[in-house]
Amino acid sequence: MSIELPPSAAPRSSYPQDVLPAAVRRRLLELAGTGSPVAAYLYDGEIAAARARELREALPEWAAVHYAVKANSFPGILAALAPHVDGFEVASLAELALATAAKPAAPGAPAPVVAAGPAKSVPVLTGLVEADVEVINAESPLELHRVSRIAQERGTTARVALRVNPAQIPVTGSLHMGGEPSQFGVPEPEAAEVVRSAQRLPGLDLVGFHIHAASNNLDAETHATYLRWCVEWSAATAAEHGIDLRHIDIGGGIGVNFEGEKPFDTARFGELAAAVTPPAGARVVLEPGRFLVADCGWYAAEVTDVKHSYGQAFAALRGGINHFQLPTSWDIVHNVAVLPVDAWPEGCPRPEAVDGPVTFVGELCTPEDTLLRDVRVERVRAGDLAVFPYAGSYGWEFAMHAFLGHPVAERLML
Ligand SMILES: Cc1ncc(COP(=O)(O)O)c(C=O)c1O
Repeated sequence: MSIELPPSAAPRSSYPQDVLPAAVRRRLLELAGTGSPVAAYLYDGEIAAARARELREALPEWAAVHYAVKANSFPGILAALAPHVDGFEVASLAELALATAAKPAAPGAPAPVVAAGPAKSVPVLTGLVEADVEVINAESPLELHRVSRIAQERGTTARVALRVNPAQIPVTGSLHMGGEPSQFGVPEPEAAEVVRSAQRLPGLDLVGFHIHAASNNLDAETHATYLRWCVEWSAATAAEHGIDLRHIDIGGGIGVNFEGEKPFDTARFGELAAAVTPPAGARVVLEPGRFLVADCGWYAAEVTDVKHSYGQAFAALRGGINHFQLPTSWDIVHNVAVLPVDAWPEGCPRPEAVDGPVTFVGELCTPEDTLLRDVRVERVRAGDLAVFPYAGSYGWEFAMHAFLGHPVAERLML
């Protein structure tokens, strides 16, 4: 088994240190002064809250925003987002507990949570039914059957939506087009039959459909076309089967612009969405993860050593893919800023790399522990901090914390 190294960043230069907000720099330099090597995520909850407000305010009344907790489940982030979202999207009982703590149900109302996941076990489904979540997005006939049984045993009715893997979504761009074999949901050609069997199962209230077919889409036009397609497909299918359609969940997938890309145009998306008319009583749920939290987080790791090996320079960090695996697992250039730290023990040699390409690697005993390759830096010294912006989504949660057993990265709210 091997992990692909991230692509070479050459000929790119590292970010200038002033891409880091003053408050981030201040806090990191404080941490550097504490005497233990820095390995931390810093989060700014206000940035996440502002993103959520921006999206919520751009969308029509019939839309609801449920933040996908998997993107960043730190309680401080959930607390920051809670007042600005309609609810959360969860995939495990741990996420359910965090979500319900951050945003408890209003008296007499369901927990403001929707849930998805391709292999929900009986304990997970039981937890979701007992928590009375708004909707369980069911992903197979067996799952529907299990929810039905669990609900009946508890003398209750569970709201479920059927997750569908569309045969084709008629939009181009950076969307997955559907129609690919996957473990997610039910293939569209089988949806009618599964709907009919769900309608016969006791203890279920079939409220609608779930489709999550987009990923990192930066184009507002195609995302609005995708939303329209989900609404029209759900309305037609509901009409055909006599379903009282209340829930059309279009999943996540709004993208985040790294260097040089055009940001997702939220206002334009809202304008285009407003031209769609869902059936009366149907709520269109969006489950953004990355879009709400990518830019609220910074991953910072102290440079433990700088080495030169057969003409190449390496900055080796107190961290790596055990803290931040995104650049390798998503095969992306994730750029860095070097934050100089002046303090250094007297009499100790201080290796550095100056004005040339540097590869940033981690502390694990494998060459796969590489975060960024061949990025041009003015100077990086042992003891400086390597700081990766845009690390708020799929950062800490997505890392292989246990491999080698070094301490995990701290997580701090600014
Ligand atoms: C069901 C579901 N909803 C929402 C999301 C969030 O997606 P994103 O972070 O791309 O917005 C995911 C991500 O995997 C997902 O599986």
